[in-house]
Amino acid sequence: MEIVLGIESSCDETAAALVAGNRRILAQRIASQDEAHRPYGGVVPEIAARAHAERLTPLIEETLAEAGLVLANVDAIAATAGPGLIGGVMVGLVTAKALAMASDKPLIAINHLEGHALSPRLADNTLDFPYLLLLVSGGHCQLLLVEGVGRYRRLATTIDDALGEAYDKTAKLLGLGYPGGPAVERLAAKGDPSKVDLPRPLVGSAEPHFSFAGLKSAVLRAREAGVHTDADVAASFQQAAIDCLTDRTRRAIAVSGGITALVLAGGVAANRSVRSGLEALAAEHGLPFTAPPLPLCTDNAAMIAWAGIERLAFGQSDPLDIAARPRWPL
Ligand code: KG4
Ligand code: ZN
Repeated sequence: MEIVLGIESSCDETAAALVAGNRRILAQRIASQDEAHRPYGGVVPEIAARAHAERLTPLIEETLAEAGLVLANVDAIAATAGPGLIGGVMVGLVTAKALAMASDKPLIAINHLEGHALSPRLADNTLDFPYLLLLVSGGHCQLLLVEGVGRYRRLATTIDDALGEAYDKTAKLLGLGYPGGPAVERLAAKGDPSKVDLPRPLVGSAEPHFSFAGLKSAVLRAREAGVHTDADVAASFQQAAIDCLTDRTRRAIAVSGGITALVLAGGVAANRSVRSGLEALAAEHGLPFTAPPLPLCTDNAAMIAWAGIERLAFGQSDPLDIAARPRWPL
């Protein structure tokens, strides 16, 4: 059975994982850079790239050691080649190239979004193509028809901010620090989602896309008005965001025939209220619902290794001169 070493370094998590063809995660390590970026309230690309360069090689060694393997036992090396912060992506990709060259194993360059898109299949062996995927992360908010490995049809995207970005900005506004998503979720749990009247951009519109910039500005105004508690603002923001997600996804379900499941992935998929909102929508349509376990939602290397396994099954690999790409639509 194939074993793939996965490497992820496109944002602020340095990660390595070994995944087998039977969906077993043999070992994985994630080094978060939260502490390094916290004073700046967001990810600083230069600091991220340096941290990846320092942490990645020892992390790979630890991952191999934990699985009791050496590089010779691995069938391929998969690394995120984009999209993301280019310095970090280059550290991961160049490391993967060096390991592939030294061990004479194939290199598989993975689109980070494809890692998220296929991640639900790592956790759920019953999930079959085609499925409708809501991919919500720090950089993206998309509805994709996943027809097969390498076959992704984008039905909708955000016309301004990604939802993770809106969570992070709301967190900053409420003084919750960095990273913002989990902190907003915790505060929202203590608030009343019906207290603050916030807009739901594009809800009910005939066009397919998402928009969160207006919601973010409305949160700012609500906060400045000083009438509501921060918990009520957080809860109302989260409810408005979920209403946007479910409305846009409901529209996509209506136009995409023959899907086997509704699937949620990406960092924001770690949010329990977002998960239950989408789960209820799936139930409404008699569709199975699946989302990866929480640690597989936010950036990790197991999803990159798994995408490598999926590509390896089709005999796909990439040349050693493949370039890192800061932008790379799926
Ligand atoms: O997928 P991811 O780890 O990185 C990207 O590829 O962007 O997503 C990170 C994003 C951040 O914006 C973070 O605030 C958000 O996911 N996030 C959450 C939660 N956990 C992470 N947003 C809402 N609720 C959460 N529990
Ligand atoms: Zn991601």
